[in-house]
Parts: sequence; structure tokens; C-alpha cells
Amino acid sequence: MKESFVSIADCSKEDILHLIKQATLFEKNPNQPVLEGKVCATLFFEPSTRTRLSFETAVNRLGGRVIGFSDASTTSSSKGETLKDTIKMVSNYADVIIMRHYLEGAARYASEITDIPIINAGDGANQHPSQTMLDLYSIYKTQGRLDNLIITMVGDLKYGRTVHSLLNGMSHFNPTFHFVAPEELRLPDIYKQFLDEKKIAYFEHTDFSPEVINQSDILYMTRVQRERFTDLMEYEKVKNSYILTNEMLDNSKPNLRVLHPLPRVNEIAYDVDDNPKAYYFEQAKNGLYARQAIICNVLGINKKIKI
Ligand code: CP
Repeated sequence: MKESFVSIADCSKEDILHLIKQATLFEKNPNQPVLEGKVCATLFFEPSTRTRLSFETAVNRLGGRVIGFSDASTTSSSKGETLKDTIKMVSNYADVIIMRHYLEGAARYASEITDIPIINAGDGANQHPSQTMLDLYSIYKTQGRLDNLIITMVGDLKYGRTVHSLLNGMSHFNPTFHFVAPEELRLPDIYKQFLDEKKIAYFEHTDFSPEVINQSDILYMTRVQRERFTDLMEYEKVKNSYILTNEMLDNSKPNLRVLHPLPRVNEIAYDVDDNPKAYYFEQAKNGLYARQAIICNVLGINKKIKI
């Protein structure tokens, strides 16, 4: 029976720690033929570089095969075929579907109309759970732990699905959050209610101040999500709200690492790239191992993995 990976909220602390352990094994040995004979479909209704290519690399390095599309305008959805029919059709061909869609809830919906596992590669402004797994793996690798960390999230906290997923995933590990956003892009109330219920400390700021940066263990920068704005004038007003420069890290903690789900537009200056505290490119690389773990997990083939 299938087990989909739709929301990080469906994962227990034990599930998360298990996937991190599996990702560690895949990092040691990413090439092993545990997906031989399996076909994985990548259906991307929204643009992607890292998520699609790292999922496809994950399948290729594990000996599986990939079908799919990166541009829905070349598929029959452009003729009016519904998402339901598309999922039903692809389920005839593949063992697992990895999908990104612009509608919130699309992956959950897909998981309810097929018997093969669905992996959510991002649904609108809602969730990006595989990104969260690579973020958690990156935090674990750089900090040596997940517990009791101070995590500052900066930028588009309203539309940023990676932010919404990550705060959920981190909620098992007693974090303290600082949320830095312009008024227009503040974290939606539903996520603050979630943190209140879990008794997780958080502080909201509009100022990206040295005090906040210098107490952080993780600085999670995000892009303002242009594609989610209905009024582009509103986007223009907030697009350059925060730009991290190298000197802003001068008095930060030695263990601080700068993460960003990428793509970056201009919220991190290029001179930060050479700072040893910049970790976003390694973070993206970690996506390969985290996604290998997720694919194997939904297909129930964890036992075959070798170190
Ligand atoms: N982080 C992320 O989802 O990147 P892509 O949009 O390039 O997949």
C-alpha cells in the first residue's frame, strides 16, 4: 500500500530523524541500484531547477527511470485535461509521482485519487516538504543537532512555502524563531497559532537588525515570491526589503550558517558567497541525499540501502 509524502506535518519526529539518518547513508554512497525496475514520474506544473533536477538525479543514481514534464503547456492539461485525469493516467505508467503544482492542496488531492505514492515538490504557498527535509539535514550537519536552536527567517514569510514547512518540521526540536518581514509579508496567523499551540517561542521584527543576526544559529533568507502577487506594484514595493551583505555577518556567532532555499534574486549580496558561513549551495546539494531518502521511504525499500 502506498505512503505519500505530502506535508511535513504528516511526519513524526521519529520519521524526520529516520530520513536524516537515511540521507546520511546516501551521502556516503549515493550510487546504489535500489530502484532498479522502478519508474518515477516528475510532473512539474510550475518552474523548478533544484527540486526537479535533484529528484531526477536521485532516481538516476539509484538505478530507476524517470518520465515526466517540466512544462505543463506541452501536456494535455493545456487542452483542458483535469489534474484528476492527469494523475490517473500517469498512475498507469509510474511507481511514484513527484509533483509540483501552483494550487495549495494539489498534492494532497492527488494522493487521494491514486494508489501510487505522491511526493509533494511544492504546492502553491502551502508546503515544500522535501525542501524541509534537506533544510533539516543541512541544519543537522552544520550545527551537530536540531534541538534548541535560534532560527531567524527573513523575507517573504507570507507566501514562502519553505518557511511554512520548515517551522512545522522544526517544531519537534524546541526552536526559538525570529521572523523578519515587512508588514505586507508577515507570517500568516495560522502558523503563529500553530507555534502558540506548540508553546514555541517566536519574535516578529520588521527591522533586519544586528541584534537579531548576532544571536542566530541559522539565518534562513528567502526570496520575495513574485509569482504569488496579484498586484505587481505591491511586489515592487517590497522586493528589496532586506539584502544580506557580508559585513552584516561580522559579529555573528561562529556556528551561524546562512541558508536559502534558492533561487536567490538579490536578497543575498554576492560577496556573501565566499563567506564560510554561507551554506546555501551545499544546502542545495544536500537535496540529492534527502530526496533519495524520501523516494526510498515512500516505496518502502529502506532495508536494501547499503553504507
Ligand atoms: N528551492 C527550490 O524549490 O528550488 P527550485 O524552485 O529551483 O526547485
